[in-house]
Amino acid sequence: MTSLEIYNPRMTYNTAAIDYDTTSVDFWRYAAVETVQRLGLVPGGSLLDVACGPGPAALAAAERVGSHGSVLGVDIAEEMIALAREHAAEAPAPQAEFVVGSMDDLDVGADRFDAATCVFGIFFARDVRASIAEMAGAVRPGGQVAVTSLGPKFFSPLYEKFIEAALAEHPGLDVDVPWHRTEDPEVMRAHLQAAGLEQVEVVHEVSALPLQTPQDWWRIATGTGIRRLIMELEPSAADRVREQNLAWITDQGIDHVELGVIYCTGVVAES
Ligand SMILES: C[S@@+](CC[C@H](N)C(=O)[O-])C[C@H]1O[C@@H](n2cnc3c(N)ncnc32)[C@H](O)[C@@H]1O
Repeated sequence: MTSLEIYNPRMTYNTAAIDYDTTSVDFWRYAAVETVQRLGLVPGGSLLDVACGPGPAALAAAERVGSHGSVLGVDIAEEMIALAREHAAEAPAPQAEFVVGSMDDLDVGADRFDAATCVFGIFFARDVRASIAEMAGAVRPGGQVAVTSLGPKFFSPLYEKFIEAALAEHPGLDVDVPWHRTEDPEVMRAHLQAAGLEQVEVVHEVSALPLQTPQDWWRIATGTGIRRLIMELEPSAADRVREQNLAWITDQGIDHVELGVIYCTGVVAES
């Protein structure tokens, strides 16, 4: 079985939705906002956001396109879609719509949007290239596609410390997580080009995310895809891993984690 078959993103993110949402604001939401800023969205424009989660990119785009624009968010996890709808109602962003659906089988119409985004979700696609091509097919000629994935620095050094402690508890734990599939900037460039996009640009940035307290690390772990690995452990083993991680943070004086983000953009061919 591949890491994706084992992973079950729908179950993981339905369970993680609330923790994901609250932790995202403090730690990685900036990447969704930054992704939208890289697009030339204008008032009255339209955006498709694939694997939208609780909607950080879709809602940033809704602000840009304004009340005459349109935004559609698609996610496989019903709980994520429920949160995105709540946020849209609070924003207010009445033009933002959110529907349950899969990027493995996008059914949103052709040449319909000015741009499409997928932030921290493309590694869950059954076929990464095919999903990017489907996103491109939903965008009008000359429109943009932005795919943002995770780089090799993934909440470093605490993710590595987590894996070490988790494997000590459960040596058979499968730690081959899906986001390793898209952590190489050149692999991402090749995917966008093979999907038929032009003017492909790939930018790899590493950010230092401050931790206010050691406990912040466990918020990140339970709010991200790391949650799936925690769920594989016996509850008492997960408690021990958490305690070891938190003690290590205190001993080493760790006050931040590093996160690598790969921003990829391309333009849909005119003919
Ligand atoms: C790490 S979250 C990213 C959410 C959001 N884009 C953000 O920037 O915060 C990954 C999201 O991908 C969604 N997802 C996983 N597989 C999917 C699929 N096949 N189709 C659509 N969404 C999927 C999950 O439900 C989850 O909401």
